Amino acid sequence: MWNSEETDEKVAEVNLEDKVLNSEEGNVITLPAEEEEINSQAESAIEKWEGRRGTQLITASIELCRLLNTINRQHLEVKATPLPQGIAKKLSQMSKPRLEGKVALITGAASGIGEETARLFVEHGAFVVIVDVQDDLGNRVAETIGVDKVSYRHCDVRDEKQVEEAVSYTVEKYGKLDILFSNAGILGPLTGILDLDLDTFDDIMATNVRGMVAMIKHAARAMVAKNTRGSIICTGSVASSIGGTGPHGYTASKHAVIGLVRGTSSELGAHGIRVNCVSPYGVATPLVCRAYNLGPSEVEANSYSLSNLKGIVLKARHVAESVLFLASDESAYISGQNLAVDGGFTVATNSFPSLKN
Ligand SMILES: NC(=O)c1ccc[n+]([C@@H]2O[C@H](COP(=O)([O-])OP(=O)(O)OC[C@H]3O[C@@H](n4cnc5c(N)ncnc54)[C@H](O)[C@@H]3O)[C@@H](O)[C@H]2O)c1
Repeated sequence: MWNSEETDEKVAEVNLEDKVLNSEEGNVITLPAEEEEINSQAESAIEKWEGRRGTQLITASIELCRLLNTINRQHLEVKATPLPQGIAKKLSQMSKPRLEGKVALITGAASGIGEETARLFVEHGAFVVIVDVQDDLGNRVAETIGVDKVSYRHCDVRDEKQVEEAVSYTVEKYGKLDILFSNAGILGPLTGILDLDLDTFDDIMATNVRGMVAMIKHAARAMVAKNTRGSIICTGSVASSIGGTGPHGYTASKHAVIGLVRGTSSELGAHGIRVNCVSPYGVATPLVCRAYNLGPSEVEANSYSLSNLKGIVLKARHVAESVLFLASDESAYISGQNLAVDGGFTVATNSFPSLKN
């Protein structure tokens, strides 16, 4: 991508980045190139690299070389300077894995938000048991993350026995349970109240509410038995706080999740166990794509058009980051809360005319 004056070889961007970041002391790399080739690339490199990387401060600049008033060369200069020791130590402490040695159980982790959270938890040093009813997908997720860190186990959360077994399996395999992310959920058919099928309604409640009750019950038992100051996080939704964003069974079930979180947090606080909820706005996961028969980019475009916060599209990763916060010691005194990951959707109507652009 970048031409070196001597060899005229292409230098891959990643090699250049490696060179800068792996230098032991402050390092300057100057890459000459023809003006028309480097201009926009250098600008985007500056935007990408400037700032802090680990314990180094990166600065970048373009230098123009003039010959007889004509620009015939440009030099991109990228410089890495080690930060003062005190600051570097503080920063390296801050960027430590946030779940080192913790054991987590995640339901509905064969896909979507649960899968993304499993990946993030492992990145932060946790051992994770993922449970789901989609066995092929679940096993594949465990294999791609690494079976030394993640195990898959079949568990239909509607069946209390399977839930109990999944918790026992986790404790037997890893010795304890620190974190439960009770996330498995279904949306149900997009029908209104006039045509609502009550068997379907029952199934939504069995998965989204009864399943969460069973998970909290058995996870909390395991935590109490081992004196673990655990963290339980349930997945709610924007449909936990307002009506009209999903089918009625779904809305009722997600409202119930908030009640369950508040009630159990009041009881389990005595054991040092925190219980919270994350409530996402629309994310293009299989749950939504299937319901609307749309591809991920179409779902994202629809969600974006109705969103409150502009300039950003909600991804499963954003939700996972919020779950990580609630799972980690950074939220040590937060319990009984519903953390809306919705860009303000459930609290802002945009209806006051003078505030509209
Ligand atoms: N995607 C969104 O826009 C959105 C928004 C708000 C809340 N949520 C909630 O997020 C959670 C995760 O959904 P997602 O969007 O990642 O969808 P998803 O379909 O990708 O993941 C849900 C997972 O739950 C599993 N599951 C369903 N029934 C189960 C059962 N009985 N036992 C065990 N596992 C079961 C599914 O197999 C699937 O792997 C759900 O609770 C959903 O209600 C999603």
